[in-house]
Amino acid sequence: MELWGGMLRALLSGSGRRGGALGWAFSSWRPHLPQAGLLSATELVNQWTAIFEKRGIPEARESSEYIVAHVLGAKTFQSMSPALRTQPLTPWQLQCIQELSSHRLQRMPVQYILGEWDFQGLSLKMAPPVFIPRPETEELVDWVLEEVTQKPHVVEAQGGPLVLDVGCGSGAISLSLLSRLPQSRVLAVDKGEAAISLTRENAQRLQLQDRIRIVPLDVTLEGSWTHLLPWGPVDLVVSNPPYIFRQDMEQLAPEIQSYEDPAALDGGEKGMDIIIHVLALASRLLKDPGSLFLEVDPRHPELIGNWLQSRPDLSLDLVAVRRDFCGRPRFLHVRRSGPQAGCPVAAWPGPQPARLPG
Ligand SMILES: C[S@@+](CC[C@H](N)C(=O)[O-])C[C@H]1O[C@@H](n2cnc3c(N)ncnc32)[C@H](O)[C@@H]1O
Repeated sequence: MELWGGMLRALLSGSGRRGGALGWAFSSWRPHLPQAGLLSATELVNQWTAIFEKRGIPEARESSEYIVAHVLGAKTFQSMSPALRTQPLTPWQLQCIQELSSHRLQRMPVQYILGEWDFQGLSLKMAPPVFIPRPETEELVDWVLEEVTQKPHVVEAQGGPLVLDVGCGSGAISLSLLSRLPQSRVLAVDKGEAAISLTRENAQRLQLQDRIRIVPLDVTLEGSWTHLLPWGPVDLVVSNPPYIFRQDMEQLAPEIQSYEDPAALDGGEKGMDIIIHVLALASRLLKDPGSLFLEVDPRHPELIGNWLQSRPDLSLDLVAVRRDFCGRPRFLHVRRSGPQAGCPVAAWPGPQPARLPG
């Protein structure tokens, strides 16, 4: 929890802050500020839960528990000792909780308020507008790990696989694969500047920066794949691309619409705009054999299966579909089924380096 002190100081110090967009929320609740020295963490959680419920904030109790626990230096309210839950809070703690809760009243996601979130057991820094990793993506990572460790023929890499993560966001997929596959190396690409710098920061926090190369790249641009040629062909491509159907964008929760980058979500009319570029990139960069794992909308397995059949030149086959914890078909395994017309593997420059070039 090293982040919270710095973040709270930043939130509370700037004099312009209260006059800013969030100022009204803070001042409108200020008259109800509880008296320092009288309230415990449990009582404050109850107070803020009631306020959030009254204001229609989703997950009212969870939100207030996370905020109070965070200010007291704990990850969850449940992990706090009974003594910590019942002892009176200091004026500083009360003020921090008040300030952070005012952001929640503005529908800011808890992950951005806390400034960090766990993914696959790794604590990652979070900052708007970079996409907040979702629990289903942990299932995608689990599937990849399962295939790589239990079915070596899926990835016939010697000395550990080279993985390409397309649309790395905060680095959630890349960094969890690196931490669970000690021999692996990752090429992480994203078109968003904020995503690129957050992935860099997270890689450094976790001391994984030596095994990852983070490249700003828009995969929809003609010939973008050629920028990745210096790293050699990859064993695996993994991606959680923007895949939401355009018509569904309006129905997203205010937390998502107001704070997360629409470019991380909007997949165009049929959610396929970026997916087809990821498939084309995989076809260019994957070794033969090599695998692509994708997270998609439940309508996509059929759409993607049909699209791949219409593009035999890509030499990619949809070989498996997996369901998420709600039973919806959300994860795809696509395998390279032969040499790709445009870029035979033999055309790659030189042997693959043991370390990724800078
Ligand atoms: C759904 S988010 C996934 C982020 C991260 N992989 C995760 O699972 O938490 C999609 C990511 O793709 C990136 N992206 C969108 N369009 C892109 C493009 N044309 N080229 C490269 N990255 C793109 C976005 O910036 C965003 O970070």
